[in-house]
Amino acid sequence: MILAFILFVFKGRKAKLAPDANIKLKYDDDDLLLLTPGPVKLHPRVLKALSSPVRYHREKSFIDSLNFVTKSISNLEGTNNLTVPITGSGTAAMDSAISSMVKRESKVLSFVNGAFSERLYNISRYYSDNVTPYFKEWGKAITGEDVKKALEDKEFDFVTLVHNETSTGVLNPMDEVMQEVNKGGAISIVDGVTSVGSDRVEVDRWGIDAMITASQKCLGGPPGVSFVTLSKRALSVIEKSDRGQNYYLDVRNYIKGGKVDVPFTTATPLVIALQEAIAMIYEEGLDNRINRHRLMGKAVRAGAQAMGLELLAERGHESNTVTAIKIPDKAESVVSQGKRYGVLFAGGQGKLTEKIIRIGHMNTVGEREVLTGLSVLDAVLTDLGIAHETGKGTLAALKEFSSAGSN
Ligand SMILES: Cc1ncc(COP(=O)(O)O)c(C=O)c1O
Repeated sequence: MILAFILFVFKGRKAKLAPDANIKLKYDDDDLLLLTPGPVKLHPRVLKALSSPVRYHREKSFIDSLNFVTKSISNLEGTNNLTVPITGSGTAAMDSAISSMVKRESKVLSFVNGAFSERLYNISRYYSDNVTPYFKEWGKAITGEDVKKALEDKEFDFVTLVHNETSTGVLNPMDEVMQEVNKGGAISIVDGVTSVGSDRVEVDRWGIDAMITASQKCLGGPPGVSFVTLSKRALSVIEKSDRGQNYYLDVRNYIKGGKVDVPFTTATPLVIALQEAIAMIYEEGLDNRINRHRLMGKAVRAGAQAMGLELLAERGHESNTVTAIKIPDKAESVVSQGKRYGVLFAGGQGKLTEKIIRIGHMNTVGEREVLTGLSVLDAVLTDLGIAHETGKGTLAALKEFSSAGSN
């Protein structure tokens, strides 16, 4: 009798709380909603371009496509400076910018407030014996005051920093930062991998000498190509010596007669796909695209906070392309449980592993993706028994959409 009662309760519970394993749709890896901070989901038009016949990298029609891509990237960065394409992910362009200019005896100042600015610091140490780090807590922004402090009574040949720190969701205030950097006169090397194409970048106005970006994030292309945009000052540093410290990544190999050259086989399908992605940026309009990214960032932050979650980024310096949310000790479980519902969030990197999740809102991410992402996050937190305000995330996001007049 008692056993029958227990079985009855157990059966009832099972039916109520969790759907039968047999009727659950298993999302495969081709069908996940990517809310990672890159690589981003590719629009079907970009996927189609990616599958077009392979081009010969020295043939005119391909060179025209490559020129369109590099000139557009300069344009999206607010400059006519020369953009050099590198075959390799964003780290290849970071390595290229540094190894092409920095010498063993060069004095380098590296601002470090996250995993990618730390990478610039580590690459600098590969090529120079004279690198000074300026560490800031991960989650805090580098400010003009920090630059002032770091430069006090000291002179540097190069300064490295990241514009949008993808590992923490912090957007460094470039107006004030670059103003102070330029007072020191050093050549600036800036990583714009998660800003160029989706946020305001003003290379000429800010006076950036080497701007780095990559295909697979804010530009909306497939991973595998990256870019370095060089100012006249940077080019004059390069012209002063006939070689950098890395053969394949030396920008000297990619420039002939002041124009982009293709010394080695370019990843032609990736460039053709990126050309289509950039055409879509122009169709949307850069200002519209930036405003959309800002709104999606606002909605994700409002949603997370309405659920009672805490953001990592210092207030006033939040990124428009990625949001880092604190989930102490359970971040990796949230990421893997999210996959069960077909949504892929990213976890934390380095010292932030297991402490945060990151939601990317780049490229094609719009209202559908933000509302889906917040609902799935809500469901996952419920599943894992993590305290939060259920049902409030999507409502807060909807409020942001409606006050922006987007619905
Ligand atoms: C700010 C930033 N810099 C550089 C990179 C380059 O990394 P990868 O070599 O994986 O493209 C990334 C990628 O996440 C990034 O977000």
